Amino acid sequence: MSIEQTLTSQERLAELDLDQLRQLVGLVEYDAADDPFPVTGWDAVVWAVGNATQTALFYQAIFGMELVAYSGPETGNRDHRSYVLRSGAVRFVIMGGVDPASPLLDHHRRHGDGIVDIALEVPDVDRCIAHARAQGATILDEPHDLSDAHGTVRTAAIATYGDTRHTLVDRSRYSGPYLPGYATRGPGRPQGARGRVFQALDHVVGNVELGRMDSWVGFYNRIMGFTNMAEFVGADIATEYSALMSKVVASGDHRVKFPLNEPAAGRKRSQIDEYLEYYAGPGAQHVALATNDILHTVDVLRGRGIEFLDTPGSYYSDPGLRARIGEIRVPIEELTARGVLVDRDEDGYLLQIFTRPIGDRPTVFFEFIERHGSLGFGKGNFQALFEAIEREQARRGNF
Ligand SMILES: [Fe+2]
Repeated sequence: MSIEQTLTSQERLAELDLDQLRQLVGLVEYDAADDPFPVTGWDAVVWAVGNATQTALFYQAIFGMELVAYSGPETGNRDHRSYVLRSGAVRFVIMGGVDPASPLLDHHRRHGDGIVDIALEVPDVDRCIAHARAQGATILDEPHDLSDAHGTVRTAAIATYGDTRHTLVDRSRYSGPYLPGYATRGPGRPQGARGRVFQALDHVVGNVELGRMDSWVGFYNRIMGFTNMAEFVGADIATEYSALMSKVVASGDHRVKFPLNEPAAGRKRSQIDEYLEYYAGPGAQHVALATNDILHTVDVLRGRGIEFLDTPGSYYSDPGLRARIGEIRVPIEELTARGVLVDRDEDGYLLQIFTRPIGDRPTVFFEFIERHGSLGFGKGNFQALFEAIEREQARRGNF
């Protein structure tokens, strides 16, 4: 299989190659021949928000994303406005209801700003749906073609946790900016690498109800042919009051990674319980965006007003930290100054940082991650992170 065939259309557009992706998001070799549900990579993260017009501006002005396509009343879509944004290989689609009867407004009333669709690019939509159906998946949209002057997209959708879906997209016969019906939009300037603060999507985490983590891991194993990654967080990693359990499933080459969390019993309500209450059910908890210079990313975003979780001072003064992390590319003082966390496993290390929730509800947030060989998710940082999140919860009176 040639390199060209294994990149998504968005990755090719971003001029990323497999070597860069291996570094950025921890790609591994794999044999697609036996995969019952081949996935090329991420297609889009689709959001339903209360005000798509303003949110799209937020992602341009603060996150440095570029507006590339638009659908709305002006293009014949009377139901909602939809803005397509990109940064490197990452595509966000921001939707908000226009028609008072739009189902997007019902979604927003229930869940607040959140992710409605984690769309994946696949080489063969029909083959994936046939396998998913045989394994008992809920098919939300049967395979069908969408066409315009730019060509044809074949697409379908299956249900996952909560009100979240996975749309599957084959865009091999399509050259338009997003999907048929969307008009090309944007400032017309090429997106220079300097303006970008992230290049690729690393993982999207799902929060599910108590006792449901293993059944959702089974869903991804059975329906989508995903395999389990080594990282497992048990309830033993927790503070006195709050706990979670976490397992990770991934597509064949690890391009698409889904950690799945469930709350674990503690003396007080865990951060996952808080999410489930305020999102009114299971949903996507955080989106991890890969950068090759996390110090620059944090400096730019903080300068534009983004708030990150505080890291306890004790995290950096812990004499065990240097021994645990070993040699890394920057002095620890540079990480301390920014609150960037570091974790190491047998394959290498990673640097990571988490934002506060980005909407009004204490639900969805972002992670920025810079990988150096590590294929993990920062398990060694869970304890430090937990303590930081609990302080935030207490400030909101939810702890
Ligand atoms: Fe994460």
